[in-house]
Amino acid sequence: MTTTATPLSSLSADELAARLTTVRAAYDELKARDLKLDLTRGKPGSDQLDLSNALLDLPSTYRDRSGTDVRNYGGLDGLPELREIFADLLGVDAADVVAGGSSSLTMMHQVLTSLLLKGGPDSPRPWSQEPVVKFICAVPGYDRHFMMLAELGIEMVTVPMNADGPDVAAVRALVDDPSVKGMWLVPTYANPTGSVVSPEVAAELMAMPTAAPDFRILWDNAYGVHHLTDEETKSADALGLAAASGHPNRPIVFASTSKITFAGAGVAALAASPENRAWYLQRLGFAAIGPDKVNHLRHVEFFGDADGVRAHMRKHRELIAPKFAAVDEALTSRLAGLGIAEWTVPTGGYFVNLDVVDGTASRVVQLAKEAGIVLTPAGSAFPHGKDPRDRNIRLAPTFPSLAEVQTAMAGVAVCVELAALEKLTA
Ligand SMILES: Cc1ncc(COP(=O)(O)O)c(C=O)c1O
Repeated sequence: MTTTATPLSSLSADELAARLTTVRAAYDELKARDLKLDLTRGKPGSDQLDLSNALLDLPSTYRDRSGTDVRNYGGLDGLPELREIFADLLGVDAADVVAGGSSSLTMMHQVLTSLLLKGGPDSPRPWSQEPVVKFICAVPGYDRHFMMLAELGIEMVTVPMNADGPDVAAVRALVDDPSVKGMWLVPTYANPTGSVVSPEVAAELMAMPTAAPDFRILWDNAYGVHHLTDEETKSADALGLAAASGHPNRPIVFASTSKITFAGAGVAALAASPENRAWYLQRLGFAAIGPDKVNHLRHVEFFGDADGVRAHMRKHRELIAPKFAAVDEALTSRLAGLGIAEWTVPTGGYFVNLDVVDGTASRVVQLAKEAGIVLTPAGSAFPHGKDPRDRNIRLAPTFPSLAEVQTAMAGVAVCVELAALEKLTA
């Protein structure tokens, strides 16, 4: 079928009915193909994991540069040479960094549970002793952030996520409330919108007055070096901006090599003000005697330095950029100009954000499922899995092969149009 650039909303009832018949036929053909495709998994493909296979034979020694035996306990804040690499990538001082286990989500969870049980360095009391604790969540956002807050009994209030970060006016309107204790933010190539927090938005968020003296911004820089174009956007300097505006303890920065080396066996890190870092390490000291420094050392040997990480990320880009291009091509060729879908063309990260006609996202996901294409459940990028407009779908093209992405996305585009036509002709 050829794509028309005429918006569906300007078609007559007869034209819509005719088009519905054609698109239904295309959908029936799609179903008859008996596909088994999955666009839900925001994880590296095995070809990406292969890029780091040299790690399996490292480290070549068990002593770090100072001669410490990495096989033994100790060094709670991680191997200094690895902290230096993270510091360079995150634009912070190595002294501010703690390198930990394999998961940055675990570090975020530790920070939140510690705030709840003990309070932060500037908390009047542990958060769990407050009548209610709320977090600002920019939407659409990362489902696991929201699930973690729900699990810990932290209420979620939402603000729109714009191309340059969360809507600052909406954030400002909420932080007057002392029960609003923090917000989550993926500053670079956000999951799922690909938004990049601009230096101006970052500066405002770090400087704005908040009723809670211990307001925290969990600055989850999971995709800080995951560029898809030559424009290798630098993340805003959260710690520097916060310190300059008199709120050094506001941000806590997180990152990991989950989508750099091995998603299940990488290294995570946290960076924070001296006070926050000491606070975190004090809590951690009750839970661990030291991190996996053997893993730290093999990552140091593998990368050499931060430029080694950057060069490695360009190899990832070569593998996954064509998959992102395939998503855009499929959506453009079928849906451009119809006025029924908008999607992002991210310059980094792992996701494409697709907005369809209001009230049809669940239907699109259902149609795709019945045609053998599994999509992330509609609404999953919103707290409690509820998209008030039922229009948002998160696409994750990295794990399937390029051919699978092409086939799946051509199918998704048919489902988007069919759901829109069903609604327009109802
Ligand atoms: C925004 C964001 N943060 C964190 C993670 C997970 O990080 P880690 O593997 O370090 O726990 C992901 C994984 O998809 C993510 O998208």
